[in-house]
Amino acid sequence: MTESSSQGTEPSALSTEHSALSTTLCGVLFRNPVVLASGILGLSEEVFVRLAQAGAGGITTKSCSLQPRVGWHNPTILNYGPGLINAVGLSNPGVEVMVQEIRAAKRQLQPLGVPIIASIFANSIYDFGVLTRYICEAEPDLIEINISCPNLDAEHEEMFSSNAYVSGQVTRSVKRNARCPIVVKLSPNVDNIAIIAKEVANAGADVICAVNSFGPGMVLDIETARPVLSNRTGGVSGPAIRPIAVRCVHDICRALRGSKVQVIGTGGVTTARDAVEMILVGATCVGVGSAIYTRGLGVFDEINAGIAEYMQRHSYQNIDEFRGRALR
Ligand code: DHB
Repeated sequence: MTESSSQGTEPSALSTEHSALSTTLCGVLFRNPVVLASGILGLSEEVFVRLAQAGAGGITTKSCSLQPRVGWHNPTILNYGPGLINAVGLSNPGVEVMVQEIRAAKRQLQPLGVPIIASIFANSIYDFGVLTRYICEAEPDLIEINISCPNLDAEHEEMFSSNAYVSGQVTRSVKRNARCPIVVKLSPNVDNIAIIAKEVANAGADVICAVNSFGPGMVLDIETARPVLSNRTGGVSGPAIRPIAVRCVHDICRALRGSKVQVIGTGGVTTARDAVEMILVGATCVGVGSAIYTRGLGVFDEINAGIAEYMQRHSYQNIDEFRGRALR
């Protein structure tokens, strides 16, 4: 999906309602729990506003870096059936442009009650701190730290979230410089995600977003005997990884029970059933990414309507009444 997609531009029937679906993340009110996950769309004011009109409860921007990044050349994304594989290369216009886009979008999103989560990515702990100061100029509602992109150059770059100590240090660096709550996005590609989650929670994370894409994986064009993606490998997302994402959210929520840290459950959520599953294992908000690529922007209203129907069927008045039920 490109930034210029024309799907789902009609204002959502659910978009302005303050309903039983509303939820609070670190004191920030979300009109519904279904948020745009980072990585799909999310670079320009126009698209942020369209997502809000389509019913998103919150919007996570694509991760931005201190300097602009061109990213990999095409093909960068493939729907291989059970899921997507992508290596975009963290393309973004850099923090200076993103500050302008987020600032402009906020003026329009605030009256709709749609918070904006600014996602950031850097190659060093120090740069994460500097980038945090810059992005705070846009006054995002929350900042997401992307320390879990699987598409790094293994020889020269380290996926910070595979190391609990480094994950904690990045979290501290961002927390020291932030003027809003911070979200740490973790990778499923670890032995024990609960250990990483505890470390970032101790380091000051307010929210954990679990999980980023899996992998890296590889899909070949068997006629040419070459990988399809220009980067050869890419992060795997979509329905194929959903059960792993649900288990990760479950493990994190179990490990952090009793703490104030909240979780955004992300990974293959396509339907209301999938969103309810994430909430049952303890998620406060549910991230939707790949489903927009396969289903279009109408997916926000579809999922919200389905959650509301589930709540009615079980006589739940609000989301708190069933959040974490599977952890009991
Ligand atoms: C990219 C970044 C991610 O965080 C991810 O999970 C997959 C791909 C990218 O921009 O290449």
